[in-house]
Amino acid sequence: MAFTTDATVVSPARRVVGRTRVPGDKSISHRYAMFGALADGLTTITGYSPGGDCATTLACVRALGAGVRQTGDHAFEIEGRGLRGLTAPSGALDAGNSGTTIRLMSGILAAHPMRVTMIGDRSLSKRPMQRVIEPLTRMGARFESDNGRPPLTVHGGDLRPIDFIPAVPSAQVKSAVILAGLQTEGRTSVLEPAATRDHTERALAEFGARVDVEGLKVSIEGGQRLRGRAVTVPGDISSATFWMALAAGTPGGEVEIEGVGLNPSRTDIIDIIRRSGAAVDVALETDGDGEPMGRLRVTFAAPRSFAIEPGDVPGIIDEIPALAALAAMLPAGTELTVRGAAELRHKESDRISALALGLRAMGTEIDEFPDGFHLRSAPLRGAIVDACDDHRLAMAFAIAATRAAGPTTITGASAVDVSYPGFFATLDRLTRGDGR
Ligand code: S3P
Repeated sequence: MAFTTDATVVSPARRVVGRTRVPGDKSISHRYAMFGALADGLTTITGYSPGGDCATTLACVRALGAGVRQTGDHAFEIEGRGLRGLTAPSGALDAGNSGTTIRLMSGILAAHPMRVTMIGDRSLSKRPMQRVIEPLTRMGARFESDNGRPPLTVHGGDLRPIDFIPAVPSAQVKSAVILAGLQTEGRTSVLEPAATRDHTERALAEFGARVDVEGLKVSIEGGQRLRGRAVTVPGDISSATFWMALAAGTPGGEVEIEGVGLNPSRTDIIDIIRRSGAAVDVALETDGDGEPMGRLRVTFAAPRSFAIEPGDVPGIIDEIPALAALAAMLPAGTELTVRGAAELRHKESDRISALALGLRAMGTEIDEFPDGFHLRSAPLRGAIVDACDDHRLAMAFAIAATRAAGPTTITGASAVDVSYPGFFATLDRLTRGDGR
């Protein structure tokens, strides 16, 4: 039997009050590093995510020949190799825990005339890659995989453009096809079944490419060269959601988050937090070409039951663990129903069953559906819960644990480092009651 020493104990909160910033946005950091590598000239990135996932992307682009130099805290310079200018790595690329790395890199590598193998950790090795293999194969690349799962070997080359309609709404799939299309003569388009985050479209425009967006259809003319530039990554609203849930779920709670990304394709979470009865003030501080950024203040107000409908899901897919924690913290008998979220079973863990297992151990009534769950809050007790090596589950359980009657032990809690190193120190500061 394997024993783990990777456990963190979270104590009940005394009071929830304070102000914080969150690490750089994970989705945007990946894209800036990759697009910097594909660009001509120098890209400087500030506010880069300190998480393990984005470090793997930097290691991958370096292994593919881009120059990567750290110039300060969360600041990097990338010397680009130009369109289709990446070179074969000396061994396999390790995407670690990161679905965004392996799927977006698949689109980039599909257009390079070389063979590259990408591997991942235990969690990534179980995740579905057929969704990128299928369109990229139609474009002319060849793949080897373990039944549609990593290790994934890409045999890239000259591609042909396609018009693609993905079966599931996915920003990663859209991005993989658009990145392959950028490097392919002709016009490639993706018609999404529902809107997903548009960081790829925005970042390509920032790097000088023209991307056409008409409703749910995104098209790109291949052969456009990217120009290196200076970019700033805003704070990650998905990480901020844990602090929103903490304030919204604690009587008297009030938390302010500064410098957070407010891209409209990511801000549906604000309305959903309001749906749970909390007050959210939003102050937009930038609105230029790139990614909008601002300040959020969340205050506990009038908790109530809420629901997440299938149409809400693509916009808040990463926020559902935090929302489940929030619902579990609200007064006994508060309900949350989530439907249309079967994709949650294909994230860093099967988030539906892992959430149900952990929250049930803490006293919450929760029933699973194939595509969601129904939760009814009850007084929370301290328990031993397993984060299943999933960063968002570790953080969700930690937030819920602040309302438990006793201490909660979270195993696999170091997974927070994937997106939020320092999470537990901030939790400690926001819950110790002195507001600093
Ligand atoms: C991401 C897209 C989403 C999200 C993931 C990051 C991205 O995944 O869950 O954390 O950066 O494009 P899907 O595109 O698979 O839904």
